[in-house]
Amino acid sequence: MLKDKGYEIAVNQEDRVLTKEELITALKDQNYNALFCLLTDKIDSEVMDSFGPQLKIVANMAVGFDNIDAREAKKRGIMITNTPGVLTDTVAEHTFALMLAIAHRISEADKFTRSGQYIGWAPMLMLGNDLSRKTLGIVGLGRIGSRVAHHGVKGFEMKVLYYDVNRNEEFEKEFGAVFVSLDDLLKQSDFVSIHVPLLPATQHLINAEKLKLMKPTSYLINTSRGPIIDEAALAMALADKTIKGAALDVFEFEPKITPELLSIDNVILTPHIASATEETRSKMSVLAATNIIEALEGRIPPNILT
Ligand code: DGY
Repeated sequence: MLKDKGYEIAVNQEDRVLTKEELITALKDQNYNALFCLLTDKIDSEVMDSFGPQLKIVANMAVGFDNIDAREAKKRGIMITNTPGVLTDTVAEHTFALMLAIAHRISEADKFTRSGQYIGWAPMLMLGNDLSRKTLGIVGLGRIGSRVAHHGVKGFEMKVLYYDVNRNEEFEKEFGAVFVSLDDLLKQSDFVSIHVPLLPATQHLINAEKLKLMKPTSYLINTSRGPIIDEAALAMALADKTIKGAALDVFEFEPKITPELLSIDNVILTPHIASATEETRSKMSVLAATNIIEALEGRIPPNILT
């Protein structure tokens, strides 16, 4: 799309994320008009110092934009855009894939079967838990959180509790959802699914104290951002069975993972792929490119944040 518009494009040739120094060197004195970046590129004020006055837009190919200092961008008159909407269904699907996988012990069972331990059907073999008619706690009732709640109610007749900074009475009426405090949600839910953005106020929102409020039979799912959960505290809670299990697509220090998590059976780990379907990644890149084209042609990009 960008080439068709006649733009000259420089692409990161490394098959990895650039370090901050490399990013600064790559951007300095280049007179770029736009930056198409990924959630792994940290765009802070020092990186912005290397931009040059002609840089109009930073288009993130992700809905989350905690990797960009948006306040600093606003001060400098740089537009920031993200890719909301196009990944909602995919992330909601992945959230359910994780929820089903941990409750039905899919990953453990797969390893068990491949390793030749399956010697015959047994009534107590690999017992898991049902989702149907259980209580689903949604932390953050935005686009993705609402979609997960929708699937819980419509697909599994789950009872939905939700916690958010805003109450949504229309949603409550439509889905029978109940607005509760975070503590009550953690105390009452069988499955807790995190869907808040990463902000100073949401960092370690789920810490050791909060994990202790959860039922020993409950499961925690995270497809939002890793630092929302204190990962060391979660590893301890899983090891000492404070909660029954967890399924994580995102990690506090990703791509590093708290080593204790790697040897625990009651956790499922996926490598930040909740939006990674062919359909959705294509739509995300098209949307990021559209945001750039609109900005460079003097129009307001559809997903402008600042
Ligand atoms: C996002 O878009 O923020 C996801 O984490 C990656 O798809």
